[in-house]
Amino acid sequence: MKIAIGCDHGGIVLKPVVEDVLKKNGIEVVDYGCYDENSVDYPDYALKVAEAVSQGQVDKGIILCGTGIGISIAANKVKGIRAAVCHDLFTAEMCARHNNANILSMGGRVVGKELAAKMVQTWLDTPFDGGRHCGRIDKITAIENKYFK
Ligand code: RB5
Repeated sequence: MKIAIGCDHGGIVLKPVVEDVLKKNGIEVVDYGCYDENSVDYPDYALKVAEAVSQGQVDKGIILCGTGIGISIAANKVKGIRAAVCHDLFTAEMCARHNNANILSMGGRVVGKELAAKMVQTWLDTPFDGGRHCGRIDKITAIENKYFK
């Protein structure tokens, strides 16, 4: 499996933690930056990760900003992306189980390192439930098809 990661200066604190969990799981990591704490614009990194996922260059993505909010909003503008902002183990599990989230988003100013590591592991380990949730995801895709070019 290959997972892309991207962050801004607000999320970079979690990047080594995320990378560590992914590598321990034998996952290949594609790091789209940023690479230091200088101020950058989160949509730039959201776009790199979202395009990699949307185009099938990687299996999934993990994005990080201060809150996880801005970078997920930007990522969700790319067709086929279901980026979920998660704050705890429950949301990390449910975004996989019910929403088949292909990008996990977390806030470096919201979630501590230990929790972030557990959230990544939970998201990786949790399968999509399928069933009734497939129809709901199909409806999300229908919205995309209506409004995306
Ligand atoms: C950057 O200061 C901050 O706005 C950004 O990391 C993120 O939290 C936006 O949603």
